[in-house]
Amino acid sequence: MQTTRPLHPTLKRCIILAYLVLFILGICLDNPEAPIVIDLRKAPSCAFAAPIPAAHFHDRQQSLAKALHHLNASAFITEPGPTAQYYFNVSTTNWKLSERPFLFVLSPEVLNDGSDVAPRITVLAPKFEITRASLLDVPLSPDAQLSLTTWAEDASPYKVAHDSLGPLAQGNAVYVDGATRWFVVSGLQDAFGKNTTVSFPPAEISDLRSQKSQAEIQIMKCANELTVEAIRATRKKMFMGMTEREASTKIAALLASAGLQNGGCLTLFGENAALPHGSGSNRSLNPTDFALFDCTATLYGYWADVTRTIALKDSRIPPDHLQIWEDVRRAQIMALDVVKNGTTTGEVDAAARRFLRAVGHGEEFTHRLGHGIGLEMHERPYLVPGSSDVLRPGHTFSDEPGVYIEGKVGVRSEDCFYVNEDGRPELLTEGTGGLAADPWNP
Ligand SMILES: *[C@@H]1O[C@H](CO)[C@@H](O)[C@H](O)[C@H]1NC(C)=O
Ligand SMILES: *[C@@H]1O[C@H](CO)[C@@H](O)[C@H](O)[C@H]1NC(C)=O
Ligand SMILES: *[C@@H]1O[C@H](CO)[C@@H](O)[C@H](O)[C@H]1NC(C)=O
Ligand SMILES: *[C@@H]1O[C@H](CO)[C@@H](O)[C@H](O)[C@H]1NC(C)=O
Ligand SMILES: *[C@@H]1O[C@H](CO)[C@@H](O)[C@H](O)[C@H]1NC(C)=O
Repeated sequence: MQTTRPLHPTLKRCIILAYLVLFILGICLDNPEAPIVIDLRKAPSCAFAAPIPAAHFHDRQQSLAKALHHLNASAFITEPGPTAQYYFNVSTTNWKLSERPFLFVLSPEVLNDGSDVAPRITVLAPKFEITRASLLDVPLSPDAQLSLTTWAEDASPYKVAHDSLGPLAQGNAVYVDGATRWFVVSGLQDAFGKNTTVSFPPAEISDLRSQKSQAEIQIMKCANELTVEAIRATRKKMFMGMTEREASTKIAALLASAGLQNGGCLTLFGENAALPHGSGSNRSLNPTDFALFDCTATLYGYWADVTRTIALKDSRIPPDHLQIWEDVRRAQIMALDVVKNGTTTGEVDAAARRFLRAVGHGEEFTHRLGHGIGLEMHERPYLVPGSSDVLRPGHTFSDEPGVYIEGKVGVRSEDCFYVNEDGRPELLTEGTGGLAADPWNP
């Protein structure tokens, strides 16, 4: 048997002194003015997040060509934007929209033996911008064909688009991305004439982008985890009397320092959270206030969206406000509980809404439960009352119930989730612990 020897008195004093030094150091480091950083190890998915590789762009173009062929359609047309980013790696950052149309036209080319289809891509640019257009780096697979076509200032870009399709132009449907500006759609309709329907695409096509791949999910997980960590780190540096503006500036800087782009948070204290006009005001934080942060940011073009309603260590939140916080969290869970392959988005919204109505907050949950998210902050499908859109693996949504009592209090909790391969919901914030535990542990 072993006996424990008492510590030598000098050693004991040394240990006590060391603890004291660490304690004082801790207080100094906790200085709210000290710069804050996010430890990337706290966002475990970031180890697996990487820009979308060229091969995935090839697969996307291939899938689009196949879907068009299946629908007997002649082409899919899009302007620079999230859809062009998805298929061709060209967003409005690479090419700003102007009054002169710049179009991507993808059509299905049936290969010799008739058993396969390859994408044929035409980039249609204003003539004087041909050099700039040719510098765009569109990832292309070996069997895809790309041609750069231009239209002169005195020509109709829509007629040129029509003619570029050759015999494919007549008879079969032409689908135009839903975000395309009306004058472009209308110009295309005129150029293609009565025998060709030019319309927004059916679900078979728009679902290609809304159902995310594992590579996309990893990027979004990383971005959402970093956003949660930014809120947590900001909370630790907050103090009574600070203004919304100060908190908002701090957190935006933190999102940027974590490597996220376009980062920012609606920052609302106390009753301001019920009437979200003028976020980031000079309203200062009182002990009875919640602070609401609704944060968005991008990584490799994909959006993160997280809302936390938090309290500080020395907050004295009224019990009825704490009860609302708990109810909102329960509503988040109620929604997740009904998520499965085949559920309608309307049913998911209804599950959260039914619960909040049962606890007396039906009238105070004033907005839809959530939105699709990806290359757009808000994209279809939506978790909205009455919707019959169907949940499928790879769909990503925000789950963001809220209760708003004007002049008093506003509470919202938001975590994004995706429908996994088994058809079950998986939170994009799971790596950082998932839903907030309570207002002190966001
Ligand atoms: C996509 O474009 C970005 C620049 O906008 C570039 O850094 C990246 O390498 C491109 N991806 C591919 C697969 O070409
Ligand atoms: C496409 O055309 C084929 C052959 O004409 C036809 O059998 C099929 O139903 C069409 N598909 C659609 C979606 O229109
Ligand atoms: C449009 O369809 C009608 C009826 O099928 C046909 O007579 C006409 O030639 C077509 N027009 C064009 C421009 O192909
Ligand atoms: C805060 O802003 C409001 C409206 O802009 C202004 O009326 C008020 O004087 C400001 N208060 C402080 C303390 O700066
Ligand atoms: C989802 O449901 C559809 C339609 O019932 C089915 O075809 C598909 O295989 C299901 N997917 C999974 C992963 O269960």
